Amino acid sequence: MRSFLLLRHVVAVVVAFSVCLSRAENYRLQPEIEVEAKHVTTLLVQVLQPNVPLLSPRHEIELSRLRVQLKHGAIKGESKSIRHRVLEALYGFETYKHGKVARYQKLYQNVSQRQRKILDRAVGYSDTLLGLEKLKAVNEDVCHEIVRVALAYYSINRQELDEFIQQEQAANRQPDHESVSQALKLFVRDWAIEGHNERHATFPCIESYLKDNFESVGVNGGSSVEILVPGAGLGRLAHEIAGLNANEWSSFVNAAYHFLEANTIPDTVSMYPFLDIWSHLKSRDEMLRRISLPDVTVNTSQVLLVEGDFTRVFKKSPAKFDAIVTLFFIDTARNLMNYLETIKQLLKPGGLWINSGPLLYGTSAWVQLSLEEIIQVVEEMGFKFLNTDSDCGDITLEGYPIRGKEALYNFNSSSLSKYAYVAQHWVARKHPK
Ligand SMILES: C[S@@+](CC[C@H](N)C(=O)[O-])C[C@H]1O[C@@H](n2cnc3c(N)ncnc32)[C@H](O)[C@@H]1O
Ligand SMILES: *[C@@H]1O[C@H](CO)[C@@H](O)[C@H](O)[C@H]1NC(C)=O
Ligand SMILES: *[C@@H]1O[C@H](CO)[C@@H](O)[C@H](O)[C@H]1NC(C)=O
Ligand SMILES: *[C@@H]1O[C@H](CO)[C@@H](O)[C@H](O)[C@H]1NC(C)=O
Repeated sequence: MRSFLLLRHVVAVVVAFSVCLSRAENYRLQPEIEVEAKHVTTLLVQVLQPNVPLLSPRHEIELSRLRVQLKHGAIKGESKSIRHRVLEALYGFETYKHGKVARYQKLYQNVSQRQRKILDRAVGYSDTLLGLEKLKAVNEDVCHEIVRVALAYYSINRQELDEFIQQEQAANRQPDHESVSQALKLFVRDWAIEGHNERHATFPCIESYLKDNFESVGVNGGSSVEILVPGAGLGRLAHEIAGLNANEWSSFVNAAYHFLEANTIPDTVSMYPFLDIWSHLKSRDEMLRRISLPDVTVNTSQVLLVEGDFTRVFKKSPAKFDAIVTLFFIDTARNLMNYLETIKQLLKPGGLWINSGPLLYGTSAWVQLSLEEIIQVVEEMGFKFLNTDSDCGDITLEGYPIRGKEALYNFNSSSLSKYAYVAQHWVARKHPK
């Protein structure tokens, strides 16, 4: 398959270059040809160096945009440059070994000799901790691979990362291992069989809405419908609806996504994402669960990931989307009004905003609206709420077509705690001017 693609592109490039040579006055490659030529370079890189994701032309364009941004300092309004944020994420992945599990192992040394003897006799606790080393090493390998793929993707060399890490360590700035841990758990939510129930709580309702409204959705490649999923996480929802655009801000999540793009074949990656969850365990085995990924073949060209803050990266975009789907997203806003305005700006007249998720505002949100207030503000902005199906849950507020349904978010890690959100599902249509 790859060699066929390669051959096709080599032919395309030979043709492209001869077109250029025949027009001696124009040495510049035409944009499409340029993209095609870059594509061949990528393919060559892939043949020489497997596990670098295959890039389609629109992915190449996005990567070029990103690489330009990676050369710049901080974007207006943000404190850190994209490059800095990518390096910080890679610092976290690269030092996974010293994360939460290592900390727990170390804390145990504070238990007295006498007490440890009891623990060893009764449950072999020291052996349990020793046994973790092997599993931790498996996760560490995955993290190193995430770093390797990301360095190649962002065109950052190893030396720069090493120097960055030294500099951070010298300044005693700790890596963000919590975000690493969350990124690994997102693999379970989106790309493991174990995440099926979590996904199933919200996906069918969203998908049925899209299918009812847009005929071509779900048809591989043939879709002319433009849909955007901002705050897409590891993008499973976007992949379920072919031809989608995903957007994600977190460099941790984006690095994990590029790793997924490089590992598309089912059950080829395994890891122990619950290794750092030591609470609520019925038995030790729960923590030691091995997860294999991905549960289905990942078609990387189906989804275009646009990296960056949703409210900034599309700042200059016209109203070009038929639908915007927000899943467990809107409550991440610092300023919810910016999210609402961006959604409105990007939707075509008559376009649909489909939402599913809780209202768990962060600790530094500027405005925190109740569900009822959101409805009123969104209506004020020119949206009309549409009827929703009873499959999507029960009506939350009398008189409004908003439905709530219990949905988990990365909480299927243990059996002694059950904490679910009541995800609110709604569909609102932008005023068809
Ligand atoms: C709760 S997670 C949900 C992820 C995914 N939709 C899912 O359901 O698994 C929210 C995501 O939004 C991302 N996010 C937060 N603020 C963002 C912004 N301004 N622009 C784009 N993504 C953002 C976060 O990094 C995070 O991955
Ligand atoms: C572990 O024990 C040492 C020495 O008794 C003490 O200094 C340290 O604070 C303890 N660590 C924690 C996290 O309790
Ligand atoms: C949690 O995961 C297990 C498999 O590890 C699965 O059998 C179970 O149904 C899941 N529970 C929920 C509530 O998703
Ligand atoms: C992958 O997706 C692209 C774009 O949607 C489509 O053209 C292609 O046929 C898909 N490949 C496979 C193997 O399904």
